[in-house]
Amino acid sequence: MKTLAILFSIASFTFAHPKPTKPLSWTLTPTNSTQQFRGLSPVDEKVLWVSGTSGTILRTSNSGRTWVDVSPQFVSENASDFQFRDIQAFSKKNAVALSIGEGNLSRIYKTDNGEGHGVAMSDPVDGKFRLLETWDGGAHWSIVSNKTMPPALDGEFGFAASGTCIEAAAGRWYIASGGVDPGRIFYTTSDSVSHGWQVANSSISGGAAAGVFSVRFRDTRHGIAVGGDYEQPTASNNTASWSNDGGVSWRKADSFPRGYRSGVSWVPGRRQTAVAVGTSGSDVTIDGGRNWVPIGNGTFDAVECVESDVCWASGSGGRVAKLDLRGL
Ligand SMILES: *[C@@H]1O[C@H](CO)[C@@H](O)[C@H](O)[C@H]1NC(C)=O
Ligand SMILES: *[C@@H]1O[C@H](CO)[C@@H](O)[C@H](O)[C@H]1NC(C)=O
Ligand SMILES: *[C@@H]1O[C@H](CO)[C@@H](O)[C@H](O)[C@H]1NC(C)=O
Ligand SMILES: *[C@@H]1O[C@H](CO)[C@@H](O)[C@H](O)[C@H]1NC(C)=O
Ligand SMILES: *[C@@H]1O[C@H](CO)[C@@H](O)[C@H](O)[C@H]1NC(C)=O
Ligand SMILES: *[C@@H]1O[C@H](CO)[C@@H](O)[C@H](O)[C@H]1NC(C)=O
Ligand SMILES: *[C@@H]1O[C@H](CO)[C@@H](O)[C@H](O)[C@H]1NC(C)=O
Repeated sequence: MKTLAILFSIASFTFAHPKPTKPLSWTLTPTNSTQQFRGLSPVDEKVLWVSGTSGTILRTSNSGRTWVDVSPQFVSENASDFQFRDIQAFSKKNAVALSIGEGNLSRIYKTDNGEGHGVAMSDPVDGKFRLLETWDGGAHWSIVSNKTMPPALDGEFGFAASGTCIEAAAGRWYIASGGVDPGRIFYTTSDSVSHGWQVANSSISGGAAAGVFSVRFRDTRHGIAVGGDYEQPTASNNTASWSNDGGVSWRKADSFPRGYRSGVSWVPGRRQTAVAVGTSGSDVTIDGGRNWVPIGNGTFDAVECVESDVCWASGSGGRVAKLDLRGL
């Protein structure tokens, strides 16, 4: 009996999946919109921008109690032709939004007085992923040298599902890809976006509608990637990977999120905690991506966590919601 008890305690110590100490659930903050918001950018605890279909950009400055429509004015064009797949906000006043579409419907819009460095990415052009760079908050963009960018594979591309197929963290840059099996993750070995690119296989299964959708690092070593197959939203095998060597190698999670996930965000100030979202639900890890525990089944496309232990998520049907991690 004694032996058995010891074995039990060892077993539970070794194999129990670390779980959050309190139940988590999202609180929806109604936007009065029915658009799909794949772009999400919190500035602080109160200010949040979302961007989406029909050329729509909304902003709240009171944690989602009320929303202001700050969409660009389309004069001779039809707003419903524009999908803002990503937005990066710098303040209550300044943001850059990226629209995708045929020909010149792929555009970058900016508000006034933005400052700073930004990089946008396009699918491979002549066999390599193309990056565009701005040093003035989006007023001017130039093509980044592709000299060290490893060639893309046949059929490889990036997913514009949550705006996090390109990531900057602690001075390094990352690109997530799909369309090939496994999905791959490109990374820089220097702090320049035009030098030292390398690429590694992730452990995330890829295919025509599958691969790595989101990659996030919390420092130069620790990264998490999520993805899967958006056409099989509840298939969970091989949907999450983690790295502790700056993206040189990727290991698969021990227990996966419960389906395809399009976005992931580290929770600032909590070393091992991150939240992932997708169309079939959301999950949390408290051990750096080794194990994932479901939060709920509601549909979201993008997630961003901020300093104050709060995460925001956005998705289709005008959905925007807040997750409070305080006390976890
Ligand atoms: C939604 O619209 C209604 C009616 O126009 C308005 O009273 C309400 O404040 C709006 N809600 C938000 C969150 O903006
Ligand atoms: C804009 O496009 C939508 C959807 O294609 C269409 O229903 C609408 O009539 C168009 N509006 C104008 C002003 O062309
Ligand atoms: C986009 O292209 C269309 C047709 O190719 C053209 O009529 C329109 O002026 C262009 N718009 C801009 C903003 O370049
Ligand atoms: C790299 O960039 C150059 C200059 O923009 C471009 O002409 C070329 O097609 C790109 N791709 C490759 C594979 O070199
Ligand atoms: C990456 O995966 C591909 C496809 O399975 C394989 O051919 C290749 O050898 C792998 N690369 C590395 C560095 O493991
Ligand atoms: C998950 O995928 C791997 C291959 O990557 C396969 O070996 C394994 O059997 C799959 N597991 C399940 C439960 O489907
Ligand atoms: C979420 O989905 C899972 C699997 O489909 C199901 O077991 C679970 O009961 C659902 N949870 C809720 C809260 O609906």
